[in-house]
Amino acid sequence: MSQQDEAKKVAGRRVIADFIHDGMKLGLGSGTTSHFFVRELGKHVAGGLRLTCTTTSRSTNDVAREVGIEITDPNEIGELDLTVDGPDEIDHRFAMIKGGGACLLWEKIIAHASKQMICICDETKIVERLGSFPLPVEVVQFAWKQTERMVAGALARHGIKGATITRRMRDGQPVVTDSGNFILDCHCGPVIADPAPLEIALNQIPGVVENGLFTREAAGMVVGCFDGTSYVKM
Ligand code: 5RP
Repeated sequence: MSQQDEAKKVAGRRVIADFIHDGMKLGLGSGTTSHFFVRELGKHVAGGLRLTCTTTSRSTNDVAREVGIEITDPNEIGELDLTVDGPDEIDHRFAMIKGGGACLLWEKIIAHASKQMICICDETKIVERLGSFPLPVEVVQFAWKQTERMVAGALARHGIKGATITRRMRDGQPVVTDSGNFILDCHCGPVIADPAPLEIALNQIPGVVENGLFTREAAGMVVGCFDGTSYVKM
């Protein structure tokens, strides 16, 4: 296992130790960091920890079930106590880019359905300014090239010049999200100086379902370091 994967694991263990209590209603994030966390959590559940959990993707459903965590329908669970999820990038004010795994829509819904969201990551995810990681925008399939033009316009109006936008592909086919939409990846560079207004502007474009800027969700982050230590920043 790589040092980075070890650091992701360390973050998962720390969030369990510091934030998770018996009886909680939990949202389980997506991506490799979250999956390490879910696997660790499975050990605690097997040991008697009682939780009610829902997830942010079909892939996390699969991992949770594999480790013996029962999944409750998000429509049945009510308000969640906590969601634990990983970023693709996070800045020092806890604004994030998410959606590298194409799960941003469900992730944002579940984050907002929770009293608190804590982000878990390894130290490589922390940046001064967002944008080196391509910003994902989830769009409906209909007329997606029109939506793409409008997304480009919104980026330019927010001072992001010369961004290129690509429809996400895998194995020669467009990626289709768990909700049946396409992903447009906006290659901006580390220039997203003010992500909150951009997050709102992108979501006002017809055809945009959600975007990967998460500027209001995380209350803090739990960071796993390559030397095996971890820290919490709130
Ligand atoms: C999926 C996500 C993931 O949470 C994000 O991509 C982080 O993934 P990883 O832990 O594998 O780096 O937003 O849509």
